[in-house]
Amino acid sequence: MNEFGGNWTENKIEILVEYAFAYLTIMNNFRFLKTIYYDGFAGSGFIQEKSKLDNKKVFGAAKRIVEIEKPIPFNLYYFVEKDLENFESLKDVLKEHQNTKEIYVVHEDCNVKIKKLSNFLKKPENKNYRVLSYIDPCGMQLRWDSIASLKGLGVDLWVLVPTGLGVNRLLKKNGDISDAWLNRLEVFLGMDRNEIKDFFYQKSSQVSLFGNEIYDKINDPVNRSAELYSSRLKEIFKFVSEPYILKNSTNSIMFHFFMGSNNPTAARIANDIIKKYNQKNG
Ligand SMILES: C[S@@+](CC[C@H](N)C(=O)[O-])C[C@H]1O[C@@H](n2cnc3c(N)ncnc32)[C@H](O)[C@@H]1O
Repeated sequence: MNEFGGNWTENKIEILVEYAFAYLTIMNNFRFLKTIYYDGFAGSGFIQEKSKLDNKKVFGAAKRIVEIEKPIPFNLYYFVEKDLENFESLKDVLKEHQNTKEIYVVHEDCNVKIKKLSNFLKKPENKNYRVLSYIDPCGMQLRWDSIASLKGLGVDLWVLVPTGLGVNRLLKKNGDISDAWLNRLEVFLGMDRNEIKDFFYQKSSQVSLFGNEIYDKINDPVNRSAELYSSRLKEIFKFVSEPYILKNSTNSIMFHFFMGSNNPTAARIANDIIKKYNQKNG
């Protein structure tokens, strides 16, 4: 079972479901288009709130989306989950719908499958497919080149970015970051280490005891990493929403949740929903 911290987990799902309703309402007017719901980090089918002492299981996004009937359901559902136990659990959660809906649950790495999705959508015979994608990792597992493979395609992508919980934790205060961490940042941001260092660090006016240059981390690195990710997304999608900001109980930012699309109406709808939920959080 996936464990989460607070009501932002449920808000994230509510945002997605609200968007899916709006998406399907529009798609209802374009019935010649085939819709795919693509969940790259699909989970076990359940979320669990730590605060709930009764250990009650709460269904995750997958079941909520599959159970949408009105205005119309999606034509096809594709769930990717890398962890075997979660994969088996999700299959079980969705099995009651297997006979009535076209549902695929696959045990794979999302990065492998996103590229296959991209290849599928690029085929001329598949030009009528449109995809609503939900990418909800708990860490930095999503490779930048996976997202980049979706450029120019009919995909609306909701993506959870671990700005506070991921990127910022790898950015050491003095810039002395290990090779392994720099590699992770490079793969995640699709930038080379010099570009990353230039963005997040500035040369200090001081020098070290032995005359080496010292680097200082920029102010507000979590929000700056969200700005950076947003600008990277804008290289792939024509429109990128403002983020929904997910904070922990001590008010520290953990994630930013963005939507990217090539359709201006999609971005407007996403922004309206996000604004509402950010205001709810205060
Ligand atoms: C935050 S949970 C997803 C929760 C789900 N979206 C929901 O609402 O119920 C993230 C899931 O991604 C899976 N995961 C981690 N790395 C992955 C990868 N590279 N490819 C696919 N799934 C992965 C984890 O096993 C975990 O179940």
